[in-house]
Amino acid sequence: MKRILVIGSPGQIGSELTPRLREIYGENNVVAGYYDFPLKGSEGPAEMFDAMDAKAVAEVVKKYKIDTIYNLAAILSAKAEANPKWGWDVGMECLLNCLEVAREFNCALFTPSSIGAFGPETPQDKTPQDTIQRPKTIYGITKVAGELLSDYYFKRFGVDTRSVRYPGIISNVTLPGGGTTDYAVEIYYAAVKGEKFICPLPEGTYLDMMYMPDAIDAAINLMEANSSKLKHRNSFNVTSMSFDPSKIYSAILKHLPDFKMEYEVDPLKKSIADTWPNSMDDSCAREEWGWRPKYDLETMTEDMLKVLSEKHKKGLI
Ligand code: SER
Repeated sequence: MKRILVIGSPGQIGSELTPRLREIYGENNVVAGYYDFPLKGSEGPAEMFDAMDAKAVAEVVKKYKIDTIYNLAAILSAKAEANPKWGWDVGMECLLNCLEVAREFNCALFTPSSIGAFGPETPQDKTPQDTIQRPKTIYGITKVAGELLSDYYFKRFGVDTRSVRYPGIISNVTLPGGGTTDYAVEIYYAAVKGEKFICPLPEGTYLDMMYMPDAIDAAINLMEANSSKLKHRNSFNVTSMSFDPSKIYSAILKHLPDFKMEYEVDPLKKSIADTWPNSMDDSCAREEWGWRPKYDLETMTEDMLKVLSEKHKKGLI
């Protein structure tokens, strides 16, 4: 049985990954790490600490005899542009602390990378697994540096580091906050509340996306994969769907025909999105560890609208 630490447990991914890990591995074997506010609604051990403090990370790992770390600390792309040093510090210091502690205490380590790890010189359609990575955002720069550093710790010290390049993740539990792909979450909230949606990206801006249940499966399945089958480690392209604002709007209109959307382009988000892939080739993840997403735009839309409408009726959103 694994002993797991989730860093960033109350965040967008952590708030759904932590309960799922507890279902699989037992609630007492999954420690919910947090910094400012705890994860609510999931029973099990929790620890407040600053993941930018190397000693604090080591103490928690020692105390709970942790053997697997999910390091989810990050400042998303658009938010990090407002304070690049903060974006770099959070991304890199937490990762370096996790890598060192993983080396010392023999832990496996999962750290997400992102479509943000690509840049304008990257081929944008069917973006290959191994290709040019010259991102132009501080978020992307931390992700590429993180991929390289994680592979370095694997090759140099044998630390079992693994990662996926997540696309925009769509979920109905915790809002992302500060990402370029956030519009694809916010649009569903506006739709169920009967509000007009103001879209920050222009029509024709295609980006890879994924529904949270698939994002959670990707992390857990990769960490469970047989290491002898992995030719890559940091990091695997994974995707479920690719759409532009007009496609997600049409998918919602099928359920809510009165829903209105207008474009009011945010130049920062547009400039970031323009440098990211339209759609990635994730065949290496499929071949090396059996990656298969379950949701497409239609099934995700149906589920998002159902869950969020119930929440709205209860006055929760
Ligand atoms: N969702 C992230 C962002 O938009 C990309 O990984 O910043």
